[in-house]
Amino acid sequence: MKPILALGLAVLIWLYPGSAIASANSVTSAQLQEIDQQWKNSAHALAEVNCSSCHQDEKTKQFIAQPTLETCQSCHEFAVETFGWGKHGIRIHEGLSPLTPAMAKLPMKKSAQDQLMNCNACHNVHSVNTVQASVDSCLSCHNDSHSLNYKNSRHAEIFAKQKDLIRPNTESVTCATCHLPRQERGETVLVNHNNTYTLLPRDRMVKEVCLNCHGVEYSYNSIFDDELVEANFDNPPDLELKTFELVRDLERRRTSQ
Ligand code: HEC
Ligand code: HEC
Ligand code: HEC
Ligand code: HEC
Ligand code: HEC
Ligand code: HEC
Repeated sequence: MKPILALGLAVLIWLYPGSAIASANSVTSAQLQEIDQQWKNSAHALAEVNCSSCHQDEKTKQFIAQPTLETCQSCHEFAVETFGWGKHGIRIHEGLSPLTPAMAKLPMKKSAQDQLMNCNACHNVHSVNTVQASVDSCLSCHNDSHSLNYKNSRHAEIFAKQKDLIRPNTESVTCATCHLPRQERGETVLVNHNNTYTLLPRDRMVKEVCLNCHGVEYSYNSIFDDELVEANFDNPPDLELKTFELVRDLERRRTSQ
């Protein structure tokens, strides 16, 4: 047994005293080894966030079999806060049961009907791999044509070439790039987990996302073309927004005065 695995298991055995053992019985040692392996390769292991950081209550020292978002919150304030402001997290924020695909109006995968929308819905909490969270996780629930068409886009083509990355970079355009935009918070860049934020008003996405890579006109002409949105931007825009013509007209009149 490798030392770090032994450590992981030892910590877990230490964490599973008395009554907790019973609830842990359903976890096989193979599952435990898999969890340990996922954690070992994660950003958490690197930052010395270990099993007990999540599975033990800081104050009461009680064992926690299934940590919740309050556990994450102690270290990831912004993620938890913003999650609670969007459609995904508002129910938890208001003390209701988590959102599930069964409650949705939008088309969802049949297999995901009862999946709870919490931090684990997108994050494998032991690997916390954000490449997987950025597209594959979304498509485990979402089943509308815009979502399904992502794979045909130039954006997806670019991301597909980056699958070996540890995390998406500034050239990646994933579902999350547009719907969970990265924002500067003091010294760092954090992910805004409010999945409603860039939807309304629609041009907020232009400012927050598209303009990092495209021009203003190109971006507006894409965002306000409903067919192109449904096709998940699989073509250059051909819409000529009236606004831009009006602005140019105004500019011409101004300069000729
Ligand atoms: C970042 C926080 C975090 C860390 C670190 C962490 N876990 Fe977990 N673990 C969770 C959460 C959250 C769940 C509940 C997942 C769910 O409800 O699907 C969980 C669930 C589990 C389960 C139950 C799995 C199941 O299928 O029922 C086991 C066993 C487990 N963790 C073991 C470990 C071990 C061993 C380590 C260290 C190698 C570890 N965890 C590190 C957050 C963490
Ligand atoms: C004890 C503090 C602590 C707890 C509790 C914690 N994390 Fe973390 N988490 C960290 C640190 C530290 C990092 C690394 C941050 C960095 O490198 O900037 C991190 C990184 C991450 C990342 C980014 C991984 C990457 O590869 O970039 C995700 C996603 C994440 N945590 C999710 C969670 C979730 C979900 C929970 C709750 C189940 C949780 N964390 C609980 C401290 C914590
Ligand atoms: C809808 C899917 C989804 C849900 C739900 C979700 N995340 Fe994330 N999270 C992501 C994606 C995708 C990224 C990486 C995005 C990127 O790098 O562009 C990410 C990044 C992160 C990061 C690293 C960046 C940062 O801001 O520090 C942390 C930490 C994190 N999530 C914590 C959480 C916590 C805590 C929860 C629960 C409140 C949660 N996430 C719920 C998809 C999700
Ligand atoms: C556990 C299933 C699940 C996962 C995983 C998931 N979603 Fe959702 N999402 C939902 C449900 C359910 C709704 C509500 C739909 C409705 O009410 O019709 C929703 C709504 C949305 C909305 C619409 C928000 C609004 O205010 O109208 C967007 C955008 C969205 N999700 C993007 C994403 C992205 C991007 C990811 C991955 C990073 C993701 N989702 C992952 C279940 C999921
Ligand atoms: C380049 C940016 C971009 C990418 C990439 C992208 N979307 Fe979207 N998405 C949009 C825009 C723009 C809208 C329309 C917003 C509106 O109607 O106000 C939208 C709408 C949605 C909606 C519907 C919201 C509603 O209420 O009708 C969902 C769900 C969604 N996206 C999920 C996804 C998922 C899942 C992926 C990845 C598989 C993805 N998106 C990739 C830009 C993007
Ligand atoms: C991280 C950079 C980046 C971001 C952010 C980004 N894109 Fe792109 N986009 C690209 C690249 C690179 C291409 C491919 C350009 C090429 O083929 O010349 C592209 C291509 C496109 C295309 C053309 C697709 C085709 O088949 O030719 C459209 C339309 C588009 N993007 C719209 C958007 C919109 C709308 C947004 C914001 C919601 C956005 N993009 C955000 C980098 C980005």
